[in-house]
Amino acid sequence: MKKGRVAVFLSGRGSNFESIYRATLKRDSNYKIAIVISDKKKAMGLKRAKKFKLKNFYISPKLFKTKREYNRHIIKLLKINKVDLVCLAGFMRIIDPEFIEEYKNRIINIHPALLPSFPGLNVQKQAVDHGVKISGCTVHFVDPGIDTGPIILQKPVKIRSDDNEDTLSKRILKEEHKIYPEAIKLFFENRLKIDGRKVIILDR
Ligand code: GAR
Repeated sequence: MKKGRVAVFLSGRGSNFESIYRATLKRDSNYKIAIVISDKKKAMGLKRAKKFKLKNFYISPKLFKTKREYNRHIIKLLKINKVDLVCLAGFMRIIDPEFIEEYKNRIINIHPALLPSFPGLNVQKQAVDHGVKISGCTVHFVDPGIDTGPIILQKPVKIRSDDNEDTLSKRILKEEHKIYPEAIKLFFENRLKIDGRKVIILDR
């Protein structure tokens, strides 16, 4: 079986990256991590990538004169490494439309809320503060909007009356670690069919 090649983009802790990596160690995994890219030099995720002996790069847009140069550089790197799918895993930057176009329907993201509720940042706190009873996490294709692309998988998490941002984030993260590798596996099984806003999960 030819394995799919994944690029993971991250900015921080990298626990989702680690869950993706761990899934690649399973005997039946249909993908592997070709490259890890961080826009933060000191990201814990980069340290993890080094520990796992994965190809890793620190690349900040600040190192480039223009957005275009940055995009070109990233795209070139992805091409050299024969990347099939880009997985954003706590990558705290808006992806440029030029890059999205180049990797159309081949960039996915994990978000710690049930989209379309609570897009953007600090969403676990927003969910607690708003008093919603259920939140969760979402894996979705990336389009030029903020957390607006077609939804692949979601997992609900009940909010308890004594939850705070931290306790809720921890429970959501546990589910993120399950659904992200699952979504990637589906992608490489060619079972995700995008039909407008909808992602249809094809039977085996
Ligand atoms: C995760 O909770 C992820 O869903 C979130 O950042 C965290 C990264 O944690 N992403 C976003 O909020 C994107 N809008 P990690 O670095 O341990 O995977």
